[in-house]
Amino acid sequence: MHKFLKPTATFLLILGLLALPGCAKKTPVSALDAVKKSGKLILGTSADFPPYEFHTQVNGADTVVGFDVAIAKEVAKDLGVSLEIKDMKFDGLLAALDSGNIDLVIAGMTPTEERKKSTDFSSIYYRAEQTVLIRAADAAKYTTVESLKKAVIGAQKGAIQVGIAKKQIKGMADANAGSPEVKELGKVADLVLELKNRKIDGLVVETEVAKAYASANPDLAVAPFVFPDSEGGSAVAVKKGSQALLDAVNATIARLEETGAIAGFVTEAKAAMDQL
Ligand code: ARG
Repeated sequence: MHKFLKPTATFLLILGLLALPGCAKKTPVSALDAVKKSGKLILGTSADFPPYEFHTQVNGADTVVGFDVAIAKEVAKDLGVSLEIKDMKFDGLLAALDSGNIDLVIAGMTPTEERKKSTDFSSIYYRAEQTVLIRAADAAKYTTVESLKKAVIGAQKGAIQVGIAKKQIKGMADANAGSPEVKELGKVADLVLELKNRKIDGLVVETEVAKAYASANPDLAVAPFVFPDSEGGSAVAVKKGSQALLDAVNATIARLEETGAIAGFVTEAKAAMDQL
C-alpha cells in the first residue's frame, strides 16, 4: 500500500504544480473588467469625419467632438469610467484595437464581413450612403457615376470607399489592385486639400461627411448621386472575444436608440460644425 501511494502522491503533487501557471493563465481579466479597473475607456477614432468626429475649438482648446464621441461618452458614463480619445489614421484603428492600445473604435466604421473575421462589432447605430465630393466648378461635368470614369478619385486608406472608387467608379475587378487613378491617403482632411488643389477630381465619402465639407468649403459640392451602403452603416468595434464589453456597448446603444438620443447627437454635431 505504502509503496503504491507514495509515488502517486508525488506524481499528483508535481502535476498540481505544473498546472498552477496554466490555471493562472486561464482566468484572464475580461476587456470590460480591465476598463473598469483602470477607470478609463480609451476610444480610438479618426477625427477627420464631420459630423461623426472632427476637431473644433472648445473654450479655446482643440477638442475632438461629433456624434461618435457623444456615443462613446455615454458608454463611458454607463460603465462609470472616464473617456480618453486617441485620434489616429483610420487604417491603423483595428491594429490598435488588437494590440490593446485602445478599448473600442467608434469612427463611422462599417462592419464588413472582412473586418468581422478579426473584430467584433456592435449593432448598427447609424445608417449611411456614400457619394462623391467634387469641386463646385465641376458640378455640371460630374452628374453621374459614369462621368467620373476618367477622373482621379480619392478615398481614405483602409476604408470601404477605396473599393467603391475602384470597383463601382473605375470598373476594376479587384479592390486590392493599385490604380493610378485612385489616390489613397490616411486622412480625409488631406484628401479634401488634394481636391481643392486639383490633385484629385472627386472624393468618395459618406453623404453626411460630403455635405459637411461642402458647407465648410464654398468651392466644393456634393455630386447628385449616391452608392447605397450595402453593408449597413456604422457600428462600434471591440477586440475579438470581448463579449462583456460588447454587451455593455450594445446596452448603451439600445438605451440611446430608445430615447432618440442618437438623432439628437447628430443634430448637435452638425450645429458644432457650423461654428467652425
Ligand atoms: N464607413 C467607412 C468604412 O468603414 C469609412 C469610415 C471612415 N471613418 C473615419 N472616421 N474617417 O470604411
